[in-house]
Amino acid sequence: MSTWKREKERQSLWRLFDRNKNVALFAPRRLGKTWLMRTLENEAETKGYAAVFIDLEAETTALGAVKKLCREINSKRVVSSFFSQLKTRMTDILHGDTQAETFEDLLLKADWESMLDATLSALNTADTPCLLLIDEVSVCLSSLLAVSKEEGAAFMRRLREHQQKYTGIRWMLTGSIGLDHVAEQYGLGGTLNQLDPFPLNPLTPEQAKAYVNHLCSRRDLPRLENNCHQLMQNRLGWLAPHYLSRLMDRIEDQAGDHAATDNHIKQACDSLLSYPYNRVFSDWPDHINRNYPDDQKVLAHKVLVLLSAHPEGERMEAMRNNAMISGSDMNSLRNTLVSLENDGFIQLNTDTGRYCFIFGLLREYWKRYQAI
Ligand SMILES: Nc1ncnc2c1ncn2[C@@H]1O[C@H](COP(=O)(O)OP(=O)(O)OP(=O)(O)O)[C@@H](O)[C@H]1O
Ligand SMILES: [Mg+2]
Repeated sequence: MSTWKREKERQSLWRLFDRNKNVALFAPRRLGKTWLMRTLENEAETKGYAAVFIDLEAETTALGAVKKLCREINSKRVVSSFFSQLKTRMTDILHGDTQAETFEDLLLKADWESMLDATLSALNTADTPCLLLIDEVSVCLSSLLAVSKEEGAAFMRRLREHQQKYTGIRWMLTGSIGLDHVAEQYGLGGTLNQLDPFPLNPLTPEQAKAYVNHLCSRRDLPRLENNCHQLMQNRLGWLAPHYLSRLMDRIEDQAGDHAATDNHIKQACDSLLSYPYNRVFSDWPDHINRNYPDDQKVLAHKVLVLLSAHPEGERMEAMRNNAMISGSDMNSLRNTLVSLENDGFIQLNTDTGRYCFIFGLLREYWKRYQAI
């Protein structure tokens, strides 16, 4: 069985959808949110759902997001004669003939809110329940809010209303930045309350081993010995398929098609930390620079620089006494630590009371390239 393929998570998610639940998927960068949604999309038919995947990353207006939704629903043929149904509903809403030939024409006649309502009410009548898998909602929402707080807030409120009204539709929302972060920054946290939070965790050591063995078979390479798996996992700390596979690239580069040794693993880790392969870590500082509020941005960098020098972690007390951090107030420090924990940078070891990096190679990267 391919244990790394998130069978357990998928089973839990299908169970939630069968119980009419809508889900917000939470996970740090590059952990496999989009991969999981695409996998759910592919298996939806066998589970009795018609799934539609929608990526809202490029959408900066509510109108754009609604158009994208319509186009994807239409191309997936979830509802028979979707466009004519939509046109009839819009004709009712507008009290007259719309004379429209395309979604674009329809949208010229109506506002995004009416179009969204008409789209979802058509979808709600489909014979098979529909699952809307919406990626990068948080990026889209962040763009909407930056242009118009009113439009962003209206978009979230409508989504919430429709989730309650159209019970034939299931929703799964995610994004590369935390949807809750974005919503809460603008006082819209309440619009997410009806969604069941679903955390996606890194792979377990067993799953990571199975995944690496799978990569070896696919590449016609000898499987790794247990000690090599162990070494690889210890050095990574954060077992995400993305980084396991990048590290396998480096191991292949070192060992060729010979059996990899401990030394190859060490050299592969060092190579991943060197230019140009180290670009694989740049998502992490980028995430802070792009998405943290200004006051947290500076503090988060200081905390991470400090922790990068301490593999075993550091206590809150020691952080507060550190010259870089001592000027900050306690609340800001606490909030920043919570954000860094939620985003997968650090974890608190409750036995030792120390905060430390979860992802070992990221700590090494931070020490080498960010602590300057
Ligand atoms: N369970 C898995 N098995 C195999 N490959 C996976 C798995 N999960 C993720 N991947 C691979 O890891 C990489 C990152 O995954 P993905 O893009 O889904 O992450 P993400 O959480 O959506 O990232 P972001 O935060 O940037 O949106 C992709 O190349 C994907 O194919
Ligand atoms: Mg993604």
